[in-house]
Amino acid sequence: MISQEQFRSFFDVVDKRLFFNHAAYAPLSRPVVNAMDEFFEHWKFGNPASWDIAEGHMEGLRSNYAKLVGAPVERIAHMANTVSGVNVLANGLNWEKGDHILLYADEFPSNVMPFLNLRDRGVDVELLPALDGRVTADLFASALRPQTRLISVSSVQYLTGYRADLKAISDLCHSRDIIFSVDAIQSVGVIPTDVIEMGIDFLAVGGHKWMMSPLGTGFLYVTEELQSRLKLMHRGYMGHVNPIDFGNFDQELSPHARRFELGAFNASGMVGAEKATEILLECGPESIYRHVRTLITKLEWALDELPFHGLFPFGENEASGIYMFRHEDASRNQSIFEALVASGVNLSLRNGGLRFAPHYYNSQEEVDRFIALLKDLA
Ligand SMILES: Cc1ncc(COP(=O)(O)O)c(C=O)c1O
Repeated sequence: MISQEQFRSFFDVVDKRLFFNHAAYAPLSRPVVNAMDEFFEHWKFGNPASWDIAEGHMEGLRSNYAKLVGAPVERIAHMANTVSGVNVLANGLNWEKGDHILLYADEFPSNVMPFLNLRDRGVDVELLPALDGRVTADLFASALRPQTRLISVSSVQYLTGYRADLKAISDLCHSRDIIFSVDAIQSVGVIPTDVIEMGIDFLAVGGHKWMMSPLGTGFLYVTEELQSRLKLMHRGYMGHVNPIDFGNFDQELSPHARRFELGAFNASGMVGAEKATEILLECGPESIYRHVRTLITKLEWALDELPFHGLFPFGENEASGIYMFRHEDASRNQSIFEALVASGVNLSLRNGGLRFAPHYYNSQEEVDRFIALLKDLA
Protein backbone atom coordinates (compact mmCIF):
# COMPACT_ATOMS: atom_id res chain seq x y z
CA MET A 1 0.00 0.00 0.00
CA ILE A 2 1.32 3.45 -0.92
CA SER A 3 -0.02 6.40 1.10
CA GLN A 4 -0.95 9.77 -0.40
CA GLU A 5 2.11 11.38 1.24
CA GLN A 6 4.42 8.69 -0.13
CA PHE A 7 2.93 9.04 -3.60
CA ARG A 8 3.39 12.81 -3.44
CA SER A 9 7.07 12.36 -2.55
CA PHE A 10 7.63 10.68 -5.95
CA PHE A 11 6.83 13.87 -7.90
CA ASP A 12 9.47 16.54 -8.52
CA VAL A 13 6.84 18.69 -10.22
CA VAL A 14 5.43 19.71 -6.83
CA ASP A 15 8.52 21.84 -6.19
CA LYS A 16 8.11 23.69 -9.48
CA ARG A 17 4.45 24.11 -10.37
CA LEU A 18 0.85 23.75 -9.24
CA PHE A 19 -0.06 21.00 -11.67
CA PHE A 20 -3.82 20.47 -12.07
CA ASN A 21 -3.92 19.42 -15.71
CA HIS A 22 -4.23 15.63 -15.61
CA ALA A 23 -7.18 15.69 -17.98
CA ALA A 24 -4.62 16.83 -20.58
CA TYR A 25 -1.39 15.03 -19.65
CA ALA A 26 0.51 14.09 -16.52
CA PRO A 27 4.00 14.71 -15.18
CA LEU A 28 6.09 11.56 -14.74
CA SER A 29 7.10 10.45 -11.27
CA ARG A 30 10.73 9.78 -10.32
CA PRO A 31 10.27 5.97 -10.08
CA VAL A 32 8.84 6.02 -13.62
CA VAL A 33 11.76 8.03 -14.99
CA ASN A 34 14.23 5.82 -13.08
CA ALA A 35 12.70 2.65 -14.51
CA MET A 36 13.01 4.07 -18.02
CA ASP A 37 16.60 5.20 -17.38
CA GLU A 38 17.51 1.71 -16.23
CA PHE A 39 15.98 0.27 -19.38
CA PHE A 40 17.92 2.74 -21.56
CA GLU A 41 21.13 1.50 -19.94
CA HIS A 42 20.40 -1.92 -21.48
CA TRP A 43 19.68 -0.51 -24.92
CA LYS A 44 22.67 1.82 -24.82
CA PHE A 45 25.03 -1.14 -24.70
CA GLY A 46 23.04 -3.38 -27.03
CA ASN A 47 22.56 -5.89 -24.25
CA PRO A 48 21.53 -9.12 -26.03
CA ALA A 49 18.81 -9.70 -23.43
CA SER A 50 17.17 -6.35 -24.21
CA TRP A 51 14.34 -7.79 -26.32
CA ASP A 52 13.43 -10.34 -23.63
CA ILE A 53 13.58 -7.67 -20.97
CA ALA A 54 11.30 -5.47 -23.08
CA GLU A 55 8.82 -8.30 -23.57
CA GLY A 56 8.82 -8.96 -19.83
CA HIS A 57 7.80 -5.35 -19.22
CA MET A 58 5.20 -5.55 -21.95
CA GLU A 59 3.53 -8.49 -20.22
CA GLY A 60 3.90 -6.91 -16.77
CA LEU A 61 2.13 -3.81 -18.07
CA ARG A 62 -0.62 -5.89 -19.70
CA SER A 63 -1.30 -7.50 -16.35
CA ASN A 64 -1.43 -4.07 -14.60
CA TYR A 65 -3.89 -2.78 -17.20
CA ALA A 66 -6.08 -5.85 -16.65
CA LYS A 67 -6.11 -5.22 -12.88
CA LEU A 68 -6.95 -1.54 -13.34
CA VAL A 69 -10.13 -2.34 -15.28
CA GLY A 70 -11.07 -5.70 -13.72
CA ALA A 71 -10.47 -7.69 -16.93
CA PRO A 72 -8.85 -11.06 -17.62
CA VAL A 73 -5.34 -10.35 -18.91
CA GLU A 74 -6.03 -12.17 -22.22
CA ARG A 75 -8.62 -9.53 -23.11
CA ILE A 76 -6.06 -6.68 -23.18
CA ALA A 77 -4.06 -5.49 -26.22
CA HIS A 78 -1.42 -2.77 -26.17
CA MET A 79 -2.23 0.30 -28.26
CA ALA A 80 -0.29 3.52 -28.81
CA ASN A 81 -3.26 5.71 -27.89
CA THR A 82 -7.05 5.75 -27.56
CA VAL A 83 -7.80 6.39 -31.21
CA SER A 84 -5.78 3.35 -32.37
CA GLY A 85 -8.03 1.20 -30.19
CA VAL A 86 -11.23 2.81 -31.46
CA ASN A 87 -10.05 2.19 -35.03
CA VAL A 88 -9.63 -1.54 -34.32
CA LEU A 89 -13.34 -1.63 -33.49
CA ALA A 90 -14.66 0.77 -36.13
CA ASN A 91 -12.76 -0.87 -38.99
CA GLY A 92 -13.06 -4.44 -37.78
CA LEU A 93 -16.85 -4.79 -37.83
CA ASN A 94 -18.70 -6.01 -40.88
CA TRP A 95 -20.81 -2.91 -41.60
CA GLU A 96 -23.79 -2.88 -43.89
CA LYS A 97 -25.29 0.09 -45.67
CA GLY A 98 -27.85 1.77 -43.39
CA ASP A 99 -26.26 0.58 -40.13
CA HIS A 100 -26.61 3.25 -37.45
CA ILE A 101 -24.04 4.43 -34.87
CA LEU A 102 -24.95 6.73 -31.98
CA LEU A 103 -22.42 9.12 -30.42
CA TYR A 104 -22.66 12.16 -28.19
CA ALA A 105 -22.07 15.37 -30.17
CA ASP A 106 -19.26 16.81 -28.00
CA GLU A 107 -17.07 13.73 -27.76
CA PHE A 108 -13.31 14.10 -28.15
CA PRO A 109 -12.42 13.36 -31.82
CA SER A 110 -10.67 10.07 -30.96
CA ASN A 111 -14.13 8.65 -30.31
CA VAL A 112 -15.69 10.26 -33.40
CA MET A 113 -13.32 10.27 -36.37
CA PRO A 114 -12.92 6.48 -36.69
CA PHE A 115 -16.72 6.19 -36.96
CA LEU A 116 -17.15 9.17 -39.32
CA ASN A 117 -14.73 7.36 -41.60
CA LEU A 118 -17.45 4.73 -42.11
CA ARG A 119 -19.88 7.20 -43.69
CA ASP A 120 -18.51 6.47 -47.15
CA ARG A 121 -19.49 2.82 -46.59
CA GLY A 122 -23.10 3.93 -46.09
CA VAL A 123 -23.03 3.82 -42.28
CA ASP A 124 -25.20 6.49 -40.64
CA VAL A 125 -23.27 8.12 -37.79
CA GLU A 126 -25.52 10.28 -35.63
CA LEU A 127 -24.12 12.87 -33.19
CA LEU A 128 -26.59 13.56 -30.39
CA PRO A 129 -26.52 16.88 -28.53
CA ALA A 130 -27.41 17.05 -24.82
CA LEU A 131 -28.43 20.51 -23.65
CA ASP A 132 -27.57 19.93 -19.99
CA GLY A 133 -24.34 18.03 -20.77
CA ARG A 134 -25.74 14.76 -19.39
CA VAL A 135 -24.84 11.82 -21.61
CA THR A 136 -27.39 9.33 -20.35
CA ALA A 137 -29.01 6.05 -21.31
CA ASP A 138 -32.25 8.02 -21.87
CA LEU A 139 -30.52 10.30 -24.35
CA PHE A 140 -29.44 7.29 -26.42
CA ALA A 141 -32.77 5.48 -25.91
CA SER A 142 -34.59 8.44 -27.48
CA ALA A 143 -32.61 8.04 -30.71
CA LEU A 144 -32.50 4.25 -31.12
CA ARG A 145 -33.51 2.72 -34.42
CA PRO A 146 -33.84 -0.91 -35.47
CA GLN A 147 -30.59 -0.38 -37.42
CA THR A 148 -28.59 0.92 -34.41
CA ARG A 149 -25.55 -1.35 -34.07
CA LEU A 150 -23.15 0.55 -31.86
CA ILE A 151 -23.02 3.22 -29.16
CA SER A 152 -19.66 4.65 -28.15
CA VAL A 153 -19.29 7.05 -25.26
CA SER A 154 -16.57 8.62 -23.12
CA SER A 155 -16.67 7.44 -19.53
CA VAL A 156 -16.00 11.08 -18.57
CA GLN A 157 -16.53 14.00 -20.94
CA TYR A 158 -13.39 16.08 -21.44
CA LEU A 159 -15.28 19.39 -21.83
CA THR A 160 -17.60 19.09 -18.84
CA GLY A 161 -16.32 16.36 -16.52
CA TYR A 162 -19.67 14.55 -16.79
CA ARG A 163 -19.33 10.90 -15.74
CA ALA A 164 -21.67 8.61 -17.62
CA ASP A 165 -23.61 5.81 -15.96
CA LEU A 166 -21.89 3.11 -18.01
CA LYS A 167 -23.95 0.26 -16.54
CA ALA A 168 -27.22 1.95 -17.51
CA ILE A 169 -26.01 2.51 -21.09
CA SER A 170 -24.69 -1.04 -21.36
CA ASP A 171 -28.04 -2.42 -20.12
CA LEU A 172 -29.79 -0.42 -22.84
CA CYS A 173 -27.34 -1.67 -25.47
CA HIS A 174 -27.58 -5.30 -24.44
CA SER A 175 -31.38 -5.28 -24.41
CA ARG A 176 -31.16 -4.45 -28.16
CA ASP A 177 -28.07 -6.39 -29.22
CA ILE A 178 -26.09 -3.15 -29.66
CA ILE A 179 -22.30 -3.05 -29.16
CA PHE A 180 -21.24 -0.84 -26.25
CA SER A 181 -17.86 0.87 -26.58
CA VAL A 182 -16.18 3.24 -24.12
CA ASP A 183 -13.38 5.80 -24.48
CA ALA A 184 -12.08 5.61 -20.91
CA ILE A 185 -9.02 7.87 -21.07
CA GLN A 186 -10.61 10.39 -18.70
CA SER A 187 -11.36 7.82 -16.01
CA VAL A 188 -8.93 4.88 -15.86
CA GLY A 189 -6.31 5.76 -13.24
CA VAL A 190 -8.60 8.07 -11.26
CA ILE A 191 -12.02 6.36 -11.13
CA PRO A 192 -12.37 2.69 -10.15
CA THR A 193 -13.40 0.71 -13.22
CA ASP A 194 -14.79 -2.80 -13.66
CA VAL A 195 -15.48 -3.64 -17.29
CA ILE A 196 -17.31 -6.85 -16.42
CA GLU A 197 -19.63 -5.28 -13.85
CA MET A 198 -20.24 -2.32 -16.16
CA GLY A 199 -21.04 -4.61 -19.10
CA ILE A 200 -18.55 -2.96 -21.45
CA ASP A 201 -17.90 -4.75 -24.75
CA PHE A 202 -14.99 -2.63 -25.90
CA LEU A 203 -12.84 -0.04 -24.15
CA ALA A 204 -9.96 2.11 -25.39
CA VAL A 205 -7.55 4.09 -23.21
CA GLY A 206 -4.42 6.19 -23.64
CA GLY A 207 -1.86 6.22 -20.84
CA HIS A 208 -0.63 9.81 -20.68
CA LYS A 209 -3.40 11.38 -18.59
CA TRP A 210 -4.73 9.76 -15.41
CA MET A 211 -2.48 6.68 -15.72
CA MET A 212 0.47 9.10 -15.50
CA SER A 213 2.39 7.18 -18.16
CA PRO A 214 4.55 8.22 -21.10
CA LEU A 215 2.93 9.29 -24.37
CA GLY A 216 2.42 6.50 -26.87
CA THR A 217 1.16 3.93 -24.36
CA GLY A 218 -2.35 2.62 -23.82
CA PHE A 219 -4.58 -0.37 -24.41
CA LEU A 220 -7.84 -1.77 -25.58
CA TYR A 221 -10.11 -4.24 -23.84
CA VAL A 222 -12.43 -6.43 -25.90
CA THR A 223 -14.72 -9.27 -24.91
CA GLU A 224 -14.04 -12.66 -26.45
CA GLU A 225 -17.45 -12.59 -28.13
CA LEU A 226 -16.89 -9.20 -29.78
CA GLN A 227 -13.34 -10.12 -30.78
CA SER A 228 -14.75 -13.08 -32.72
CA ARG A 229 -16.71 -10.58 -34.84
CA LEU A 230 -13.76 -8.28 -35.55
CA LYS A 231 -11.75 -8.70 -38.70
CA LEU A 232 -8.14 -7.53 -38.43
CA MET A 233 -7.73 -4.40 -40.51
CA HIS A 234 -3.97 -4.43 -39.94
CA ARG A 235 -2.07 -7.65 -39.48
CA GLY A 236 1.42 -7.91 -38.07
CA TYR A 237 3.53 -10.71 -36.67
CA MET A 238 3.26 -9.92 -32.96
CA GLY A 239 -0.40 -10.95 -32.90
CA HIS A 240 0.35 -14.56 -33.80
CA VAL A 241 0.69 -17.56 -31.56
CA ASN A 242 4.47 -17.57 -31.88
CA PRO A 243 5.66 -14.15 -33.05
CA ILE A 244 9.32 -15.15 -33.31
CA ASP A 245 8.65 -18.10 -35.63
CA PHE A 246 9.34 -15.66 -38.46
CA GLY A 247 9.31 -18.13 -41.36
CA ASN A 248 5.97 -19.68 -40.45
CA PHE A 249 3.37 -17.75 -42.42
CA ASP A 250 0.69 -20.38 -41.80
CA GLN A 251 0.49 -19.92 -38.07
CA GLU A 252 -2.67 -19.01 -36.22
CA LEU A 253 -3.53 -15.66 -34.76
CA SER A 254 -3.36 -15.51 -30.99
CA PRO A 255 -6.75 -16.41 -29.48
CA HIS A 256 -6.20 -13.46 -27.14
CA ALA A 257 -6.72 -9.74 -27.71
CA ARG A 258 -3.01 -9.35 -28.40
CA ARG A 259 -3.85 -10.50 -31.96
CA PHE A 260 -4.39 -6.77 -32.62
CA GLU A 261 -0.75 -5.95 -31.84
CA LEU A 262 1.45 -5.53 -34.88
CA GLY A 263 5.24 -5.34 -34.61
CA ALA A 264 8.13 -3.82 -32.65
CA PHE A 265 6.66 -1.87 -29.79
CA ASN A 266 7.20 1.24 -27.65
CA ALA A 267 9.27 -0.63 -25.07
CA SER A 268 10.67 2.37 -23.16
CA GLY A 269 7.19 3.88 -22.89
CA MET A 270 5.85 0.56 -21.67
CA VAL A 271 8.58 0.30 -19.04
CA GLY A 272 7.49 3.69 -17.71
CA ALA A 273 3.80 2.78 -17.94
CA GLU A 274 4.39 -0.49 -16.13
CA LYS A 275 5.96 1.35 -13.20
CA ALA A 276 3.30 4.10 -13.25
CA THR A 277 0.40 1.62 -13.21
CA GLU A 278 2.08 -0.58 -10.58
CA ILE A 279 2.24 2.47 -8.30
CA LEU A 280 -1.37 3.47 -9.00
CA LEU A 281 -2.52 -0.06 -8.16
CA GLU A 282 -0.61 0.11 -4.88
CA CYS A 283 -2.25 3.44 -4.06
CA GLY A 284 -5.65 1.87 -4.73
CA PRO A 285 -8.16 3.35 -7.20
CA GLU A 286 -10.76 3.99 -4.45
CA SER A 287 -8.30 6.03 -2.35
CA ILE A 288 -7.21 7.97 -5.43
CA TYR A 289 -10.77 8.89 -6.38
CA ARG A 290 -11.75 9.84 -2.83
CA HIS A 291 -8.75 12.15 -2.50
CA VAL A 292 -9.32 13.80 -5.88
CA ARG A 293 -12.98 14.44 -5.03
CA THR A 294 -11.94 15.97 -1.68
CA LEU A 295 -9.64 18.41 -3.49
CA ILE A 296 -12.34 19.33 -6.00
CA THR A 297 -14.96 19.84 -3.29
CA LYS A 298 -12.54 22.10 -1.41
CA LEU A 299 -12.18 24.31 -4.48
CA GLU A 300 -15.91 24.22 -5.19
CA TRP A 301 -16.74 25.48 -1.68
CA ALA A 302 -14.07 28.17 -1.79
CA LEU A 303 -15.52 29.51 -5.06
CA ASP A 304 -18.80 30.25 -3.23
CA GLU A 305 -16.97 33.18 -1.61
CA LEU A 306 -15.48 34.42 -4.89
CA PRO A 307 -16.84 35.76 -8.19
CA PHE A 308 -16.25 32.35 -9.81
CA HIS A 309 -18.76 29.55 -10.25
CA GLY A 310 -18.93 25.94 -11.35
CA LEU A 311 -20.19 25.47 -14.90
CA PHE A 312 -22.13 22.23 -14.45
CA PRO A 313 -24.32 21.27 -11.49
CA PHE A 314 -23.59 17.55 -11.69
CA GLY A 315 -24.36 15.35 -8.68
CA GLU A 316 -21.73 13.24 -6.94
CA ASN A 317 -22.70 10.14 -8.98
CA GLU A 318 -22.07 12.14 -12.18
CA ALA A 319 -18.82 13.70 -10.96
CA SER A 320 -15.25 12.87 -11.96
CA GLY A 321 -11.66 14.12 -11.70
CA ILE A 322 -12.55 17.13 -13.86
CA TYR A 323 -14.13 20.30 -12.49
CA MET A 324 -15.07 23.14 -14.84
CA PHE A 325 -15.51 26.69 -13.54
CA ARG A 326 -15.18 30.27 -14.66
CA HIS A 327 -15.24 33.91 -13.59
CA GLU A 328 -18.72 35.42 -13.55
CA ASP A 329 -17.48 37.96 -16.09
CA ALA A 330 -16.90 35.46 -18.91
CA SER A 331 -14.78 37.96 -20.87
CA ARG A 332 -12.08 37.75 -18.18
CA ASN A 333 -11.43 34.00 -18.31
CA GLN A 334 -8.74 34.14 -20.98
CA SER A 335 -6.68 36.73 -19.10
CA ILE A 336 -7.21 34.94 -15.76
CA PHE A 337 -6.05 31.70 -17.37
CA GLU A 338 -2.93 33.42 -18.74
CA ALA A 339 -2.16 34.99 -15.35
CA LEU A 340 -2.51 31.58 -13.65
CA VAL A 341 -0.13 29.99 -16.15
CA ALA A 342 2.33 32.85 -15.64
CA SER A 343 2.14 32.18 -11.88
CA GLY A 344 3.19 28.57 -12.40
CA VAL A 345 -0.21 26.84 -12.54
CA ASN A 346 -0.90 24.10 -15.09
CA LEU A 347 -4.54 23.78 -16.02
CA SER A 348 -6.58 24.02 -19.23
CA LEU A 349 -8.97 26.53 -20.73
CA ARG A 350 -11.71 24.65 -22.58
CA ASN A 351 -14.71 26.31 -24.26
CA GLY A 352 -14.26 29.39 -22.06
CA GLY A 353 -14.10 27.37 -18.84
CA LEU A 354 -11.14 26.73 -16.54
CA ARG A 355 -10.58 22.97 -16.23
CA PHE A 356 -9.25 21.86 -12.86
CA ALA A 357 -8.09 18.23 -12.83
CA PRO A 358 -5.99 17.26 -9.77
CA HIS A 359 -4.49 13.83 -9.08
CA TYR A 360 -3.63 11.83 -5.97
CA TYR A 361 -0.27 13.52 -5.32
CA ASN A 362 -1.82 17.01 -5.18
CA SER A 363 -2.34 18.29 -1.65
CA GLN A 364 -4.94 20.37 0.16
CA GLU A 365 -2.25 22.98 0.72
CA GLU A 366 -1.73 23.23 -3.07
CA VAL A 367 -5.45 23.80 -3.54
CA ASP A 368 -5.26 26.54 -0.86
CA ARG A 369 -2.46 28.20 -2.82
CA PHE A 370 -4.56 27.95 -5.99
CA ILE A 371 -7.56 29.51 -4.21
CA ALA A 372 -5.35 32.36 -2.97
CA LEU A 373 -4.23 33.03 -6.56
CA LEU A 374 -7.85 33.08 -7.73
CA LYS A 375 -8.67 35.56 -4.94
CA ASP A 376 -5.87 37.85 -6.13
CA LEU A 377 -7.08 37.65 -9.72
CA ALA A 378 -10.78 38.01 -8.95
C1 LIG B 1 -12.12 11.86 -24.05
C2 LIG B 1 -10.77 11.81 -24.70
N1 LIG B 1 -10.46 10.78 -25.52
C3 LIG B 1 -9.24 10.67 -26.08
C4 LIG B 1 -8.26 11.63 -25.87
C5 LIG B 1 -6.90 11.45 -26.44
O1 LIG B 1 -6.93 10.61 -27.52
P1 LIG B 1 -5.67 9.78 -28.00
O2 LIG B 1 -5.27 8.88 -26.89
O3 LIG B 1 -6.23 9.06 -29.17
O4 LIG B 1 -4.62 10.77 -28.38
C6 LIG B 1 -8.55 12.73 -25.06
C7 LIG B 1 -7.52 13.77 -24.85
O5 LIG B 1 -7.75 14.90 -24.61
C8 LIG B 1 -9.83 12.80 -24.46
O6 LIG B 1 -10.12 13.81 -23.62
